[in-house]
Amino acid sequence: MKVLIALTSMFYLAATASICSKAKYDYGEVVTKSILFYDAQRSGKLPANNPIPWRGDSAVNDQGDHGEDLSGGWYDAGDLVKFNLPGSSAVRVLLNGIVRWYDTYTALGQINMALDSVKWELDYFLKCWIPSKQIYYYQVGEADLDHQFWGRPEDMTMARPAFSISPSKTGSDVAGQTAADFAAGAIAFKKTDPAYSTKLLQAAQSLYTFAVTNKGKYTSKYYTSTDYTDELCLAGAWLFKATGNQTYLNDAKLYHKNNVPGGLDWNNGLAACQLMLYELTHDDTYKVEIQNFLKKWKPGSSTPYSPCGLAYFDKWGTCRHAANGAYAAIWAADLGIDATENRQWALSQINYILGDNNYKMSYVIGFGSKYPVKPHHRPSSCPDLNLFCGWNAFNSTAANPHLLVGGLVGGPNLKDEWVDDRGDYVRNEVALDYNAGLQSACAGLAHLCITNEIPPSPTPKC
Ligand SMILES: *[C@@H]1O[C@H](CO)[C@@H](O)[C@H](O)[C@H]1NC(C)=O
Ligand SMILES: *[C@@H]1O[C@H](CO)[C@@H](O)[C@H](O)[C@H]1NC(C)=O
Repeated sequence: MKVLIALTSMFYLAATASICSKAKYDYGEVVTKSILFYDAQRSGKLPANNPIPWRGDSAVNDQGDHGEDLSGGWYDAGDLVKFNLPGSSAVRVLLNGIVRWYDTYTALGQINMALDSVKWELDYFLKCWIPSKQIYYYQVGEADLDHQFWGRPEDMTMARPAFSISPSKTGSDVAGQTAADFAAGAIAFKKTDPAYSTKLLQAAQSLYTFAVTNKGKYTSKYYTSTDYTDELCLAGAWLFKATGNQTYLNDAKLYHKNNVPGGLDWNNGLAACQLMLYELTHDDTYKVEIQNFLKKWKPGSSTPYSPCGLAYFDKWGTCRHAANGAYAAIWAADLGIDATENRQWALSQINYILGDNNYKMSYVIGFGSKYPVKPHHRPSSCPDLNLFCGWNAFNSTAANPHLLVGGLVGGPNLKDEWVDDRGDYVRNEVALDYNAGLQSACAGLAHLCITNEIPPSPTPKC
């Protein structure tokens, strides 16, 4: 028995260590750990193989206005609401990484873990979309009620209302992006689970039709959408990729805009729309757009840089924005767009996040030897499941009792300053959308390790 365990762990170590052994950081290890972060965010009745021992069943009675079962899915961040706009953005980014850099996931022995991980959220989205009633639930839980409670999801007692869209209450953004997820999922699961793939594709088509028939933005207090055309473009592009039906590509082109996007995140997916369209058409129009977007990110343009080299987009989740930019750059490089320059720049940002910074620390929990231990994350801040948890856990100056392995925290400010403070939800919270760009960027870098195209590590600025 002992021998078997030793052999298994040796194999595991060998499998993870070999991919990026020549690079400065093990990007494959980040991918493996990031999957665990998503597993820690699970809501609902957990499966027998739940790898997070300090998590149990929670919110098993989440339901819609007519009693529909809405249990499952992922909690958004350090809090416990289920928001489908950032959630669907994360799933789309993760699925793109899985589909594009499948070799990374198989080389890591993580393809089943990765697919299982996104399937948890896809299964929930399938519950949220009820084609026969033309209702799509886009949120369960209410943030103001939720935020009055500090404790673990397993102990929640507050009301968890559900919010929906229908032909009389629009939401082309959140419905469009979920349709994109279903289409991307149909591609990702085609080999391993054809029946599930077919089910996802049907849902993608019906939800897409709903999204384009009832055009308009959705209503949200915490995750406001500024536009829905980017999500519709992404839905059309993924549906074309999944079906080959030209109608979807024509639609995607129609919803596409030729602006230089303000950023790339859960709200603004235009850069991803431009990348998808270039990938599907090889039309140089889109290539120029992507070049303009990435040029804006790089040194010498309008994006400010911290002294130690982090491209700074917004005070919220600085590392996430840089990781999203890196993800776009690695994807663009894969499509043959300024490959060397884009890969080098992406590496500078990801390496900053993993340790090339003033603190010589990783902003990914559990990666390297120094990392955040007091993230703003309710479940991991609580002691073991049977023990009391409340605001005393929030106030505690000790490390979170449980290590939220793989979670990317917000990150430093423009001066590279960061403190490990549980109360600082701007710089020390985790979120579904924070990890997605990072996981896919690292999957892309690990792929470059496999193909021997990984550029030399840039010299750290600090
Ligand atoms: C392509 O998709 C459109 C929109 O859903 C549909 O009306 C059309 O029948 C499809 N075409 C084919 C060849 O399947
Ligand atoms: C937590 O700290 C706040 C002040 O920051 C205080 O008002 C509250 O009573 C504390 N609660 C517990 C349970 O320690």
